[in-house]
Amino acid sequence: MTIEAVINVDLDGPRINRHVYGHFAEHLGRCIYGGFYVGDDPDVPNVGGLRLDVVEALRDLNIPNLRWPGGCFADEYHWRDGVGPKDQRPVMVNTHWGGVEENNHFGTHEFLALCEMLGAEPYISGNVGSGTVREMSEWVEYLTRDGDSPMARLRRANGREQPWRVRFWGLGNEAWGCGGNMTAEHYAQEARRYGTYSRDYGDNRLYKIAAGANGTDYAWTETLMKQLGHLGCRHIAGTAYHALSVHYYTVTGPTWEEKGSATVFDTGEYYTTMVAAARVEEVLAGHAAVMDCYDPTRSVGLVLDEWGTWFDVARGTNPGFLYQQNTLRDALVASVHFDVFHRHADRLVMANIAQTVNVLQAMILTDPDAKAMVLTPTYHVFRMNRDHQDATSLRVDFRTALPSRPVGDATLTTVSASASRKDGRLLLSLSNLDATTAVDITIDLRGGTIGTADATILTAGLLQDHNTPQAPSTVVPRPYDRVSVTGSTLRVHLPPHSFVTVSGVL
Ligand code: AHR
Repeated sequence: MTIEAVINVDLDGPRINRHVYGHFAEHLGRCIYGGFYVGDDPDVPNVGGLRLDVVEALRDLNIPNLRWPGGCFADEYHWRDGVGPKDQRPVMVNTHWGGVEENNHFGTHEFLALCEMLGAEPYISGNVGSGTVREMSEWVEYLTRDGDSPMARLRRANGREQPWRVRFWGLGNEAWGCGGNMTAEHYAQEARRYGTYSRDYGDNRLYKIAAGANGTDYAWTETLMKQLGHLGCRHIAGTAYHALSVHYYTVTGPTWEEKGSATVFDTGEYYTTMVAAARVEEVLAGHAAVMDCYDPTRSVGLVLDEWGTWFDVARGTNPGFLYQQNTLRDALVASVHFDVFHRHADRLVMANIAQTVNVLQAMILTDPDAKAMVLTPTYHVFRMNRDHQDATSLRVDFRTALPSRPVGDATLTTVSASASRKDGRLLLSLSNLDATTAVDITIDLRGGTIGTADATILTAGLLQDHNTPQAPSTVVPRPYDRVSVTGSTLRVHLPPHSFVTVSGVL
């Protein structure tokens, strides 16, 4: 089958905010401890306890920001427990995630050191659910205030002279659930209160993100937008929050207890997963439409600060640790999400995959016995798409019908695409979601063309294929040559279940 598309390479769409390639690290299972942080384990090369192999791999993704400390954990985290000498930090119980003890050895200073090593901006979620306005306010002071003040003195006493730069500031997490079981109306008032006392010090400007909706709860978004009633008016100085979040996970299976295995699934389950993944477009478009009613100039950002696949935990692992393997199916879930993010670049300012290491749809899995690290298929999609960050989005218009297939009551479009331009180069991302049928795409490049096409493919023999310490290269990107350019016509052959990127100098 051949389909035809048009890309006007000289017609600029909105800029793709690099922060849609953001990450998320929670005190959950082995994400922090054993994932990012190994303390003084002599068997894993580290600096200050931070794993060098993980840092190096993530640096290659240009990760723009890292969200921390949760998630649900954020609303039971008390930052003062995580500063000062490690042997004096109190131990707490992580009630959300496995009921394990948290020794607070990874705290504010360790997180900011990690961000500095990664070259990523910190995105810190403050505690609204079980904290206080004063606690949050003092954390901001501790982090960002220069000069002489009680919290700046405490920071210095703990070894950090200069304030850090912290822009992204979360006002709680999932306030409708683990973050306090609040109604939207109640949370909106809390967000205004906590937002008010989260101050800007010196030239540090917080970008405050209110805890947003669960999936398609558009009423939650509407309530938060109404609370920003000063938009367009001048009588309220300042802004309680600058953005709203939303969480959307790709979950399938008949019940929450039976979400399905991450590695053992049939083709029918694969298609069901892809329908759930593609639905992120409806979710983002729905929230954006509500926001447009209150904020037509799009000054308020939409932040998808948790997304990814959520399957049953790997057999034999702690159910509270949310550890799952990652197959080619996960890679295609990621590639479809990025196409949607690029299409919604005019409203979506950030997205954070859940989570970076050892939890849910991870980039990196670390093996506690072998101490080895494995890069997942999802990691490779982030790597292949890296140059979309801060690029100008370009529309991909199809002039022939796209292939599709019925999946239950839904229809899955089995080709997904997006494109961008940056520094005089075109980057095109193409996914063929069909499990068994190849497709050929002919693209008419208008307003410019590329001389030669550099292409890379991510695919595998089976949808279930994945990487392990014993076989780390089962699903890895490879150079791809079934691409040609003739004049302004680009032809790409897409094998079944594959992700292909094509780039070239314009
Ligand atoms: O990512 C795992 C959990 O999912 C987060 O802690 C929470 O915010 C969401 O429900």
